[in-house]
Amino acid sequence: MAANDLAVVILAAGKGTRLKSSLAKVLHRAGGRSLVEHVITACAQLKPRKFIAVVGHQAEQVSTVIEPRGIESVLQQPQRGTGHAMQVARRALGTTKIALVLPGDAPLIRTETLRSMIAAHRAANAAITILTAVVSDPSGYGRILRKSETSVQAIAEESQLTDEQRDINEINSSIYCFTLEKLWPALGQVKPNNKHRELYLTDAVSMLASKNETVLAHVAVDPREALGCNTRADLAEVDRIFRERKRTELMNDGVSIQLPETVLVDPDVTIGEDTLLEPCVQLLGKTKIGQRCTVRTGSVLSDMILGDDVLVEPHCVAMQSRLDDNTVIGPFARLRLGTHLKDRARAGNFVEVKKSVVGEGAKVPHLTYLGDAHVGAKTNIGAGTITCNYDGFQKHPTNIGRGVFIGSDTTLVAPLRIGDGAYVAAGSTITENVPPDGLGIARGRQVNKPRWASRKRRELAAAEHANTRPRPRKKSKPRKRKSRRR
Ligand code: UD1
Ligand code: CA
Repeated sequence: MAANDLAVVILAAGKGTRLKSSLAKVLHRAGGRSLVEHVITACAQLKPRKFIAVVGHQAEQVSTVIEPRGIESVLQQPQRGTGHAMQVARRALGTTKIALVLPGDAPLIRTETLRSMIAAHRAANAAITILTAVVSDPSGYGRILRKSETSVQAIAEESQLTDEQRDINEINSSIYCFTLEKLWPALGQVKPNNKHRELYLTDAVSMLASKNETVLAHVAVDPREALGCNTRADLAEVDRIFRERKRTELMNDGVSIQLPETVLVDPDVTIGEDTLLEPCVQLLGKTKIGQRCTVRTGSVLSDMILGDDVLVEPHCVAMQSRLDDNTVIGPFARLRLGTHLKDRARAGNFVEVKKSVVGEGAKVPHLTYLGDAHVGAKTNIGAGTITCNYDGFQKHPTNIGRGVFIGSDTTLVAPLRIGDGAYVAAGSTITENVPPDGLGIARGRQVNKPRWASRKRRELAAAEHANTRPRPRKKSKPRKRKSRRR
C-alpha cells in the first residue's frame, strides 16, 4: 500500500431542488441514517489522511452531523457547481496527492468498491478514474463517452445530450479518483458553459482526456452503488435497498423473518439466533434482541434491550426499556422510557408503563398505567389499576412490595408504599401506605335494599299507565286512508 497520500472529499453543498424540501438533501434519511452519514461510513474505513466535506446549503446543520466524525468542513457559498466545489476545497487539501471525491447523495457505495477503484487508479497512474455503472434507465445522469475499452473521452450531462448519446447506458456515478496535480490546471480552464451557469467537475474530464491524460472508467459490479438520490422516489428506492441488505444480513445470521419486505430494521439493531419477526414489525435505533424471541406483527420497538425467549405480542409500542429473559408484553402494550421488566414478568393488553420496574414473575395483565413505580417479585396488579404519579407539579413514586395483590380498578395516589404480601381491595382509592401483610380498603361501603327493585318497577309501571291513558277526543272528519295493499 502506498504512503498515505489520500484525501476524501464529500460534496455536500447542494440544495437538492428536486426533493422539494426545506431540509438539505444530504440530511435526508434512507436506511435509518442520513445520506451523508452512509457516505462517511463507507469512506472512514479507508482511513484517509484528510477527510473534507464541502458544505453550503444549510451548512450549520450539515456540519453538526459531520464534525463529530472528525471531518473538516469547507464552506462553498454560493454554490456554483461541482467543479467550483472542488476549487473551494483546494486549500484544505494541502499537499495530498490523490483525492477520492464523492457526492453526498450516493449512499449505497461500499468501501470494497472504493478500494478497488483507488487500486486501479494507482496501478494505471491515471489522472482521473471515474466510477461508472451500466444501468437500464440512465436518465438524469451524465453519460460516459468512451475513447477506448478502458478510457474515457468525456462525460455528457443530461442537458447537453445529442439524440444518440441519450441511449448510452453507462453513467457517471460522480465518484472519482483525482491525481490532484493534474486536476487543478484542468479545472482552472473549465467554463460555466451550461444552462445553469455552473462549473461542472465533469468538464475537467474531457479537458484532461483531450490532453491525452489517462482517464479510466471503473465499472461498478453492482450498479446500485451509483444510485444518486435526487428525488423522493430515489430516496424510497435507496431506503428499500438498505432495508433489504439489513434483513438479508439478519437472516444469514439465523433470524427468521416472515414477509420480509414488510419488516423494517435500522442498521444498528442486533438480533440473536432463532428469533422470529412477524410481518410489519419495526425495530429502530439501537435495539438489541436476544435469542429465541418472538416479535409479533405490528410491534414497533425503539432503543429496546430484550433478553432471550422474550415474547412481544402483536401491536406493542416500546421504547428505551429493558425486557429480561422470558418476559411477555402485549398485545397492545406501551412501554415508555426507563421501564424494566425482570425475568418472567408480564405487561399485558392495554397496559402503559413508564419509568417503572416490574419484578421477577410479577404480572400487570390488563388495562393499567404504571408510572414511576416499583413492583416487587410475584406481585399481581389487577385490571384497571392506575398509579396517580403526577400532582400537576411533580412526579411521585409508588412502591409496591413483593407478593402483593392489588385488586381491580385501584387508584394509587403517590407517593405511596404498599408493604410485602399486602392486599388492596378492588375499587379502592389508596392515599395512605398499606403495611406489609395488611389489607387496604378505601371505598364506599355497600348497602343492600331488599325488594327495592320490584317496588321500583311497580312505581314505574303506574306512571307509564297514567301517561298513556287516552285523552278526551275532539270531533274531526274521519280520515280517508289509502289502502297500501296491492
Ligand atoms: C452529478 C454529475 C452527473 C452524475 C450525477 C451522479 C455534474 C455536473 N454532474 O449530477 O454527471 O451522473 O451527479 O449522481 O457533476 N454539490 C456541491 N456544490 C455545488 C453543486 C453540487 O457541493 O455547487 C454537491 C451536491 O450536494 C451533491 C453533488 O455535489 O451531493 C452532486 O450534485 P448534484 O446537483 O446532485 O449533481 P447531479 O445533477 O446529480
Ligand atoms: Ca445527484
